[in-house]
Formats: sequence, C-alpha cells, structure tokens
Amino acid sequence: MEQELLNLQNEARGNLNQLTEAGQLEEFRIRYLGRKGLFSTIMRELSAASPEERPRLGQLANSVRAEIEQLFDEKKTTLDNSSSRAQGANAIDLSLPGRYPERGRLHPVTQIMTEVCSIFEALGFSVAEGPDVEHDHYNFEALNIPAHHPARDMHDTFYVSESILLRTHTSPMQARIMESKQPPLRVIAPGKVYRCDSDITHTPMFHQVEGFLVDTKVSFADLKGILTVFTQKMFGEELALRFRPSFFPFTEPSAEVDIACVICGGKGCRVCKQTGWLEILGAGMIDPEVFKMVGYDPEIYSGFAFGLGIERIAMLKYGINDIRLYYENDLRFLSQF
Ligand code: DAH
Repeated sequence: MEQELLNLQNEARGNLNQLTEAGQLEEFRIRYLGRKGLFSTIMRELSAASPEERPRLGQLANSVRAEIEQLFDEKKTTLDNSSSRAQGANAIDLSLPGRYPERGRLHPVTQIMTEVCSIFEALGFSVAEGPDVEHDHYNFEALNIPAHHPARDMHDTFYVSESILLRTHTSPMQARIMESKQPPLRVIAPGKVYRCDSDITHTPMFHQVEGFLVDTKVSFADLKGILTVFTQKMFGEELALRFRPSFFPFTEPSAEVDIACVICGGKGCRVCKQTGWLEILGAGMIDPEVFKMVGYDPEIYSGFAFGLGIERIAMLKYGINDIRLYYENDLRFLSQF
C-alpha cells in the first residue's frame, strides 16, 4: 500500500504539471480526489493493514492527499488567472470611442438671466448686483413700504433678525444705487430673492431682474417702449402684450405687464390660472417719495422701474408647466436646455 501511495503521488504530480487548461482540472479532481477516485480506492486497503502498520500508513496517506490538494489548488489559481487575462485581452476593442466626461451646461435660469441682461445691456443699461441678505430699510422703508403697510403681507419672508431679512425682491437695488449715484441712471440688477411661497408657479427662492431709468423728462411712453422692445426680443414680434393698471408703493402710476400664455395659446390652463395671460413683470413711474428718500428732487428728475421674474420667463419661453422642475436637479430635465 505504501508503494501504491507513492506511485499515486508521483503520477498525480506529473499529470498536474501537464495540465494547460482550466477545463481539464475537474477531470483531474475526479480521477484522483473524487469519492470513487484513485486515492479513495487505495484508502480502502488501510483496514486490511496490520494494527501496528496502520498509524504510519494513515499518516502517509494524509500527507499524500494534502500535497495533491495543495498542488491542485495552486494549479487552479494559475490557470484561472491566465484564462481571465486572456479573456480581458479579447474584451478590449481598440476601435471603440473613448468615454468622455459629460459636459456640463448652464442652468436654464442662468441662461435666461444672461439673455435678459444682454437685451437690456444692448439698450444701454449697466448691471449691478446687491446683497441677498438685506436691511429692512432698503427692502421696504426706502421703497415707500413703511412698517405695517399692507403691501408687506405679500412679501412675507425669512427674517434673520428684526431688521435684517432675505430680500423679497430686487427693488432694494433702486434705493442702494440712487443713494450713491446721480442721474442719469440706467441700471439692471439681477439676483436671487426669497419669499414664503411654494406651489407650481412659486418657489421659496427665485430670481428677478430689476431695471430702472432715471433722468429728466422720462415718461410712461419711455417705459412702454423699453418693455415692448424687451418682450419682443425675448419672445418674438408676434407675442401679445398688455399693460394692466396696478399698485406698487414705490411707483405711481403702476402697471403689471402680461404676455399671452404660451402654454395654452391664451385659451386658459393650469399655469395661467385659466386667464390666458401670464404676468411677467411689474412696472411703473418711480414714486416721488422714493426720490425724496434718496435726496433726488422729484421736480427735476423722473424715471421708471420694473421687476421681472426669471423662472417665469424661462417657463414661458420653453413651455415648462411646473416651476419646481428647475430645482429638482434632474439631469433628464436640465440637459434639455
Ligand atoms: N418688486 C416687485 C415685486 O417683486 C416687482 C416690481 C414692481 C418692481 C414694480 C418694480 C416695479 O421695479 O416698478 O413684486
């Protein structure tokens, strides 16, 4: 039996050496190590050995089996590795185009903001930016909205302290600029504004562009002219436009400017609240009270101001029916612009 074990050991070593493919391994395992394999067959003779011989033969058998198993495992590792390397080499197709990092793009709100600004810049306006966190004074008082004025209700916002808040509109820039510069002025002020508002046409943060012009002898006709040029450049010559009398504490007279709803073509839908019109901006002649507060003489100077919402303009331009889509960060939406 001893000789048989040693022969088996030799034979198995030699056989294993000659194996070149992973597929032959299983055949080897069954032949030598399987339940009915050569090793098991020899082991059956162990019971026939004399009690004195048995422990030594048992030990020898164990070490022979252990060696064959170890060599088998090593072979399996080498063959597996080389076969996966071979597969890997075949899998590389050098003619395939490389993987490019995806190119980013500007958010639709930023795109419209830039477009709006460039239309006004072409009309001679310069761009100014102001703080998002604003004093009560500029956001309200300097715009003729004293404490407890009902107009504050529409601007319920986020207060940082009693007199500091997230600006509810870009109009504070009128007061800030007029306070530090003398007419003639032609300024637009783009930026973020904040209100406690949330539905399909309102988000708590949104973007506005404020514009104003101050000079001598400015009339409502100048305002109409500038805004007509703007809406035509933005939406095309055909678009219907209407000025509706309105009220803002910092302009007198005031108007709201609507354009025909581009989602439903003016028939009435969810977005235009069945009116067929969409308000895109508020405007008016700057109130003499506002001029007085910044030290301009209202007998000499006159001017107009307007404020428009960027998200809304982008909705109209692209036919988007829910403002919240802008801020969900879904690339399937954003990459369309
Ligand atoms: N600030 C106003 C708002 O956010 C919009 C506005 C209306 C701005 C009339 C103006 C204006 O400059 O003249 O509701």
